[in-house]
Amino acid sequence: MCSDTKKVSIKRADFKENYKEIHDIRDAVYIVGQNCPYDEEFDGHDENSEHFLATVGESVVGYCRLRMVGRKAKMERFAVYERWRGKGVGRLLVKHLLALLEERKVADKYLHAQVRVKRFYQQLGFKERGGPFWEAGIEHVAMYHE
Ligand SMILES: CC(C)(COP(=O)(O)OP(=O)(O)OC[C@H]1O[C@@H](n2cnc3c(N)ncnc32)[C@H](O)[C@@H]1OP(=O)(O)O)[C@@H](O)C(=O)NCCC(=O)NCCS
Repeated sequence: MCSDTKKVSIKRADFKENYKEIHDIRDAVYIVGQNCPYDEEFDGHDENSEHFLATVGESVVGYCRLRMVGRKAKMERFAVYERWRGKGVGRLLVKHLLALLEERKVADKYLHAQVRVKRFYQQLGFKERGGPFWEAGIEHVAMYHE
């Protein structure tokens, strides 16, 4: 972990109030960065999700979304601006959600990982369940935290 992560804070965001920051990072990381279709990125679930921003001072460096699907918690849209990658920001975001879900005693915690990023989630205790599938034109696999 780089000493830069000591300056990183994770805070809950409001989709309407923080619309620009949330939109900007998802646009840069997913729509521009990974060619995700706009309608799949902004999929209509934002209003019923919780949103989290990682910041350094006034600058947004990362983002993720948390959504309940029935009784299961689905962690989504982990995104770190390119120049901040590899410094532990993504790991902080995942750990923040896991701690929150632990507090809430949510047993089922999962995500759809892009296959090429599996190792990132494996290092954080997630295990693959089932085979690969395609989402937003990218190969994914379901991973659960047990
Ligand atoms: C994936 C992503 C969120 C990781 O965030 P990050 O801040 O760069 O990751 P961290 O610095 O916290 O890395 C934690 C660990 O995971 C590993 N890791 C990070 N990105 C990885 C990747 N793309 N593939 C494999 N391992 C990765 C790191 O090497 C690090 O391990 P180490 O401690 O042994 O060095 C970030 O790279 C990103 O926004 N990527 C583009 C969007 C994306 O693909 N999101 C995931 C969708 S499922």
